[in-house]
Amino acid sequence: MSAHDGGRAMTNSQQQAQEIAAGYQFDGAALELGTVVVDGQVDPTARVRIPMRTLNRHGLVAGATGTGKTKTLQGIAEQLSRAGVPVVLADIKGDLSGLSRPGESSDKLTARAAETGDADWHPSAYPTEFVSLGTTGIGVPIRATITSFGPVLLSKVLGLNETQESTLGLIFHWADRNGLALLDLKDIRAVITHLTSPEGKEDLKGIGGVSAATAGVILRALVNLEADGGDTFFGEPELDPADLLRTAGGQGVITLFELGAQSARPVMFSTFLMWVLADLFQTLPEVGDVDKPKLVFIFDEAHLLFAGASKAFLEQVEQTVRLIRSKGVGVFFCTQLPTDIPNPVLSQLGARIQHALRAFTPDDQKALSKTVRTYPKTAAYDLEQALTSLGTGEAIVTVLSERGAPTPVAWTRIAPPRSLMDTIGDTAITQRAQAGPLYAKYGQTIDRESAYEILTAKVEAAEPEPAAPKPKPEESTAERIMSNPAVKSFLRSAATAAGREISRSIFGTRKR
Ligand SMILES: Nc1ncnc2c1ncn2[C@@H]1O[C@H](COP(=O)(O)OP(=O)(O)O)[C@@H](O)[C@H]1O
Ligand SMILES: [Mg+2]
Repeated sequence: MSAHDGGRAMTNSQQQAQEIAAGYQFDGAALELGTVVVDGQVDPTARVRIPMRTLNRHGLVAGATGTGKTKTLQGIAEQLSRAGVPVVLADIKGDLSGLSRPGESSDKLTARAAETGDADWHPSAYPTEFVSLGTTGIGVPIRATITSFGPVLLSKVLGLNETQESTLGLIFHWADRNGLALLDLKDIRAVITHLTSPEGKEDLKGIGGVSAATAGVILRALVNLEADGGDTFFGEPELDPADLLRTAGGQGVITLFELGAQSARPVMFSTFLMWVLADLFQTLPEVGDVDKPKLVFIFDEAHLLFAGASKAFLEQVEQTVRLIRSKGVGVFFCTQLPTDIPNPVLSQLGARIQHALRAFTPDDQKALSKTVRTYPKTAAYDLEQALTSLGTGEAIVTVLSERGAPTPVAWTRIAPPRSLMDTIGDTAITQRAQAGPLYAKYGQTIDRESAYEILTAKVEAAEPEPAAPKPKPEESTAERIMSNPAVKSFLRSAATAAGREISRSIFGTRKR
C-alpha cells in the first residue's frame, strides 16, 4: 500500500513516520532530538522534539553502556545553551567537557546530521564552566557549609543507618536552635565532641533521644570522612546558586561538575549535586509554567544517587523533583536501567529517551518488560523487540506535548552534537577553570583561622570587663562549646555563632 504525496510515492513506513512526527509539532519553541525511524528507514523530515514548555516536567535518558546516552545529553545541553537556558551537568567520565570545543566535521557526521534533521550542522563550542567538589579536583573548587548541607544529605554521605540519621537530625536541630552555623567538618565534630564530653552532659540531656553511643558512631564516621579527604568539600566560600544561572552572549552557560579523580567518591558527588538542586529550590522564585525553563539540571549516572538511600533521602529527592517544577527547573536523570530510579521519582519524568537495553539475564528481561509497560500503546513498533535492537545513538522516545499529553512513541535517530564528542583532557579543563570568572570567587578556601578569630572576637565583645561584681551573664552555647577542654583540642575549629535560630527546608537543607 502506498499513498501519494505530490507525485512521490509514500511507502507505508514513511506514512507511519509522518503520522508519528505529527504528534511532535508544537506551537512554541522545541528542542530537536532527531528524526523518526520506521522499519529501519529514517525519515529526515519526521522530527522528534521536546517542547521547551514541558522541560520542567523532567525527563529520563536511559540505556546500556555505549548506546549513546552521553551524546544525547550533550545535544540537549547544546540546544538549551543556544536557547539561552543555563544547564548544570554531572560530567562523570569527563567526556562532556567536549562541549567547550567545536566538533570535528566528517562526511559521516554531516550525513548523520542531515538524516536527523540538522542540515545546518556546523562545528560549534558552547560557554562552559568547569567546577569540582572540594579543592582536590580539576575544576573550580566548590563547597557547601555543613549547616547548609543538613543532616539528611550528610547521613547519606556518611552511610548512616536510619537510627543514626535521626540522631544526626536531632544534633543539627540543637545546633540550629542555638544559632550555631557549622561551617566545616571540624565544626560538627566539635559539637558532637562537646555533647559526648562530661561538660556537655546537660546539653545532651536537653536534646533528648540521643544516645552517647550513637553520637560516638557518627563522630567516628566524620573522622573517617575527614581522613579520607572529605574535609575539602565543606566550608566557605559556599556555592552561590546564582552562579549556575548565567548566560554569556545570549547563550546559557553550561556548568559541568567534573567527577575527575574523585571517582572513588561517587556517593559524595551525587549527594552534593542533590544539595545544589535543593539549594536552587530554596533560592529561586516561584514562576509556574514558563515558555522555556530557567535552568535544566542533568544527573548522569543517577543510580549513584539512589543506591542504598534512606527513606528520608528518597523523600527529599522525590519532593525536590516534584516541587522544583514550579520554579521553572527541569531535571533529567540519566542511568542504565529505568528501574534504577525509584517509582515515585520515575513517575514524575515526563520525557523518556530510552536507548538500547540488553536482555541477557532474567533480571534484564524483567526490566525490559517493565520498561515496555511504561510506554503508550504503539502500532508502529513491537517495543520489546525495538528496545533490544536500537542502533547506537537511537532511542525510543515519548515526551509530553505542550498540553501535557504523551506524544506518540517514536523510534528516534538522535542528531549528533555540534561540539567535540570527546574529552578535552584534565589539563585543558584545569586551564579553562582557572581562566574563568568563578575562579577568583571560589579558588581559595576562606581561612578557618579567621573564622575562629571572628568568633572569639565576638565572644569577647559580648562580654565587656565587668567593672563591678554583677551576676554572671549566662554563658552562650557557643561559649560553652569553646571553653570545653575536649573541644579545645580542635584549636581552629569553631561553631560560629549565627546569633539567631537557623531554619531548615522540608529537604533538611538550610533555608536562606
Ligand atoms: N547522537 C549521536 N551521534 C553520533 N554518534 C553518536 C551519537 N550517540 C552515540 N554516538 C556514538 O556512540 C558512542 C557511544 O556513545 P555514548 O554517548 O558515549 O554512550 P553511553 O553514554 O551510553 O555509554 C559515541 O562515542 C559516538 O561515537
Ligand atoms: Mg556515558
